[in-house]
Amino acid sequence: MESQAKDETRAAPDGFAGILVVAFEGRMAAETAALIERFGGRPLVAPAMREAPLEDNAAALEFAARLIDGRFDAVIFLTGVGARALFRAVESRYPRDAIAGALAKVLTVARGPKPVAALREFGVEPTIAIDEPNTWREILVALDQRGALAGKHIAVQEYGVTNRDLMAGLEARNAEVMAVPVYRWTLPADRGPLREAIATIAAGRAGAVVFTSSNQVTNVIRTAEADGMGDQFRRGLGTTIVGSIGPVCSEQLRAHQIHIDLEPSHPKLGHLIKETAAASARRRAPEQNAPATVAAAAEARTASGDQVIRDHPFMRGCRREPVPYTPIWLMRQAGRYMPEYRRVRDRHPFLELCRRPELAAEVTVTAVERLGVDAAIIFADILLPLIPLGVGLRYEAGDGPIIERPIRTIADLEKLPPVNAADALSFVGDAIRLVDRAIGDRTPIIGFAGAPFTLASYLIEGGSSRQYQATKTLAYNEPATWHRLMTMLAQVTADYLKMQIAAGADVVQLFDSWVGSLGPDDYRRLVLPHTQSVIAAVRGLAPVIHFGTITGNLLELMREAGGDVIGLDWRVDLGEAWQRLRYEVGVQGNLDPIALFADRAEIRRRAQAILDKAQGRPGHIFNLGHGILPETPVDHVIALVDAVHEMSRR
Ligand code: CP3
Repeated sequence: MESQAKDETRAAPDGFAGILVVAFEGRMAAETAALIERFGGRPLVAPAMREAPLEDNAAALEFAARLIDGRFDAVIFLTGVGARALFRAVESRYPRDAIAGALAKVLTVARGPKPVAALREFGVEPTIAIDEPNTWREILVALDQRGALAGKHIAVQEYGVTNRDLMAGLEARNAEVMAVPVYRWTLPADRGPLREAIATIAAGRAGAVVFTSSNQVTNVIRTAEADGMGDQFRRGLGTTIVGSIGPVCSEQLRAHQIHIDLEPSHPKLGHLIKETAAASARRRAPEQNAPATVAAAAEARTASGDQVIRDHPFMRGCRREPVPYTPIWLMRQAGRYMPEYRRVRDRHPFLELCRRPELAAEVTVTAVERLGVDAAIIFADILLPLIPLGVGLRYEAGDGPIIERPIRTIADLEKLPPVNAADALSFVGDAIRLVDRAIGDRTPIIGFAGAPFTLASYLIEGGSSRQYQATKTLAYNEPATWHRLMTMLAQVTADYLKMQIAAGADVVQLFDSWVGSLGPDDYRRLVLPHTQSVIAAVRGLAPVIHFGTITGNLLELMREAGGDVIGLDWRVDLGEAWQRLRYEVGVQGNLDPIALFADRAEIRRRAQAILDKAQGRPGHIFNLGHGILPETPVDHVIALVDAVHEMSRR
């Protein structure tokens, strides 16, 4: 048996080939290790949880004692599983009637239908049921509507992890809050192996990682964070193959911004290990597998959308891996040149389109399906983060964006409110989730944001500009004010991008459209550190495309600021520019948008010229050098997409 397993491994072309494979399974630790070995991996199995007897839950019993004593004004139930576990724990000491009776006398808040069901099973009708989807904000809003919270005693049932935002919100309202952690799955008595596994992943030494339950994910993250290694751990995971046993586990991973390469075709340990081994083999030998990528993707679609996306030519292009054809998408692919867009736009102002996820998703998906491009860019605008700053952003037909109260002085800057981009722009996340649900299993989704310089230029000029006179004057005259503004914008942008990635964006593009107005010394001093901090904040979470125009003099500096792919407008020669970047990054571009007004033969000729310059090197993503212009004929755009696919087929 033993030798047969070894032979099988050696013969298997899709094995782990000796890489370190980390698993967190406890009950099935031995089987997991054996399976990993059988598929040619080196197992590191570190249990992440053990079942804790609920009766031992001191916090739950303390909660029950206070509740029966009439010392709470409100109890918030965050999860169904947690609510049931809490009831079971307290019933081990107190009669059900006493608890249900006490609960009936206080304000009970159930977050979503699951805790509602748990409460009803227990004989309690919740006072407030928060609809789904929801966040901690809706809970606070609902409580606020019931009157002031100051001095009120509130218990919050938690499951696994504390919701720090909710706690902070309650505390900010001067409520007296008691957290009631009810979690069946506590950490193992000996945390040594778990810590070692986390450190191994953080150091980038694991080749693959598999998660076999959602509670495991919670405990692993808790441990990594308690050790101050949360970010390194996530970054380390970004470089490995991550397998998730099933949708609940995947949801928990995504909630922690961890990408998933695959879910197995059946939620079984054997399938998980086998399919993770296959995914790791595909990643290892891209050349060998490239021609089969598309066919394999189509076949794998039902099994795992995540794997299809990972192997999509656009994603492979971002990682500079060989592709069966050059991937193409177009900046401003969803826009006024397209009649479908104009029809939606006729009925809704631009900002409303951005703010209503179902409309934004509709416009995003329509463009992809109409054009046959290789990526969906979420419909939004780089200026949306200016909305929560309260500077009066509006879009005027003909004039483009207008900022009613531009920022010109340190006093203006100091008046800006602190912004939580992830919350204020959660509608963009919702739109991404809708697009993901519609086409996310076959088309990669691009999230995006404006880079700090380009955002600052709108904020300071009050709209579009030719010379950037006010912007540059402020930067040159008052560097301290400038750097403060840029630091704030970088922070907002980083949070905004992270939120988009967490919502399902596979790649993000940073638009520094107007940075070409600077010379290299000014770029290095006034812009580079800030753009660098944005890109560093998302490194390992998703590939980054770093775009600008008229940047022929800045390309090396832009690469230094960061990005997996650098955007090239049409004013540079793609071959020369890529060489200057030493092929250390991918490049995106670089067709002149006006070329799309020429006839089809000319469009083909120009597309071929760009493909020739790229020489089939891995890492070229075809695009225009800047966005599609509103008068562009749609059929010419489609002809370009088809021509690039056809002429670049390897
Ligand atoms: O399809 C896509 O590419 C996604 C959507 C998208 C829009 N704007 C929609 C939009 C993207 C990626 C952007 C980025 C953007 N927005 C940039 C960077 C790219 C670039 O062109 O350099 C900039 C500088 C902006 C700011 C902005 N938004 C301007 C200057 C304008 C007005 C000019 C114009 O092109 O209309 C907008 C409005 C805007 N953003 C429209 C669209 C479809 C047109 C609004 C309308 O329908 O009336």
